[in-house]
Amino acid sequence: MILIRKFRPTDLSRVYGVECKSFKDPYDVFFLLNLYELYPESFLVAERNGVVVGYVIARTIGRKGHIIAIAVEPEYRRQGIGRALMKSATQVLKSQGAQELFLEVRASNKEAIKFYERLGFRRTQVIPKYYADGEDGVLLRKSPP
Ligand SMILES: CC(C)(COP(=O)(O)OP(=O)(O)OC[C@H]1O[C@@H](n2cnc3c(N)ncnc32)[C@H](O)[C@@H]1OP(=O)(O)O)[C@@H](O)C(=O)NCCC(=O)NCCS
Repeated sequence: MILIRKFRPTDLSRVYGVECKSFKDPYDVFFLLNLYELYPESFLVAERNGVVVGYVIARTIGRKGHIIAIAVEPEYRRQGIGRALMKSATQVLKSQGAQELFLEVRASNKEAIKFYERLGFRRTQVIPKYYADGEDGVLLRKSPP
């Protein structure tokens, strides 16, 4: 069973662990805590057997919902946890007034692009050199959410 719930500060070390295993340029703990302070309603974690195995951070800007980051512990991937996190985050963003969703992803992250496309997102734009190391970003949108 997967439980999706709001992030709590005591989850920080687990979330940071997932973050470090998932991204080559992970957010540091201070930035993660800052995101929680800014968006406490839409920073969610996935728990399996009492252990945090994934998270999603999102925010609403006007009528748009922005997926800031999502990651699942590598050995728990392809079990529907990412989809469950996105479903719950979407519900929160819609309740905050979001009428469409968007996100950016590294152009080389083909797996994540497939994941988002499977959830109904469409590639709309390439953002040249969006990332600090010079890699292009891909903008994906889903409307309605
Ligand atoms: C992207 C990520 C969050 C997906 O989480 P997940 O729990 O594995 O996703 P799900 O199991 O819910 O996948 C849902 C569907 O998305 C698609 N999908 C997911 N991962 C995929 C992959 N590696 N390759 C192709 N399709 C994939 C599949 O259609 C899948 O359904 P299926 O398993 O029934 O075929 C996870 O791979 C991850 O943490 N990646 C590293 C961090 C990252 O890149 N985050 C996104 C950029 S912000």
